[in-house]
Amino acid sequence: MQRVYITRMISLDALEEIKKACHVSVNSKDAPVKRHELIKNMKDKDGVLCMLTDRIDKEVLDAAPDLKVISTMSVGFEHIDVDEATKRGIYVCNTPDVLTEATADLAFSLLLATARHIPQADSFVRAGAWKEPWSPSLFLGMPVWGATIGIIGLGRIGKAVAKRAAGFNMKILYNNRRRLSREEEKALGVRYASLKNLLKRSDFVTIHTPLTKDTYHIIDENALRLMKPHAILINTSRGNTIDEEALIKALKEKWIAGTGLDVFSKEPIEKDHPILSLENVVALPHIGSATGKTREMMADMAAKNLLMALKSKKPFHLVNPEAERYKRAWL
Ligand code: DGY
Repeated sequence: MQRVYITRMISLDALEEIKKACHVSVNSKDAPVKRHELIKNMKDKDGVLCMLTDRIDKEVLDAAPDLKVISTMSVGFEHIDVDEATKRGIYVCNTPDVLTEATADLAFSLLLATARHIPQADSFVRAGAWKEPWSPSLFLGMPVWGATIGIIGLGRIGKAVAKRAAGFNMKILYNNRRRLSREEEKALGVRYASLKNLLKRSDFVTIHTPLTKDTYHIIDENALRLMKPHAILINTSRGNTIDEEALIKALKEKWIAGTGLDVFSKEPIEKDHPILSLENVVALPHIGSATGKTREMMADMAAKNLLMALKSKKPFHLVNPEAERYKRAWL
């Protein structure tokens, strides 16, 4: 039987599926596996089902000479050294699609929450600070209906956000590596803009690109300086798409009005991180895909990808089809 390591407890259904075909060991702690344990556990494994919190780099791959597949329970795969895996003929698989709607829901909730100061207003009520029955100037926010939204990265999640924005009668600008066809743009009601124009014209800017060397700090000081003073920046992709130092400066000096962040350059963010002391910030603990149903679907998809690869079939969501060329005769 082939041997599989699962770096964090997944849904029982998905676990059972893998157990039917493989000998499985699981990190059953409710915490990411420690680096030394990961390395130790990879030794004799044919497959690993990992999380975005596990760095699968050369050192880990060196410890796993028999490895055939890395199946991550996430759409993002920047925690995996894909080039190194490819050279070794190891398949890398991820879980797109199944988390698109949940993540778009969260991005839009965060946009609304930031625009209308929902968390701050909730804390205000709970703290007993609400002393007058109604006040004409209490928690004045930014209108969302009819505003202009700029979507950076119009992939699956970006498009799902565009559909929600259309329901709020928003003007939708987008920037993407590849421009959509006119028909697609029309169907979605979106208009292409250069990054510079998008930043200049949007009331809300929301990031939906994967983290790559091209998108690292795509929002830096120059980008922030282009945004409108009343604009709000939303990030549910990866923390390192934003230069956080520059963002803190932008918020303090009021180049922009606020930000809603579900992701940070270092997670978990430290309690005394300077960004958390600013009042125009809404911060969430990386919960974009966090619905029970979505997480079950992600586990199921990660399990299917893993098992297909181990059966020497092409997995549903293969990040590195080029690995095929380097694949050893496994079976
Ligand atoms: C992902 O899948 O990459 C998200 O960040 C977590 O669901």
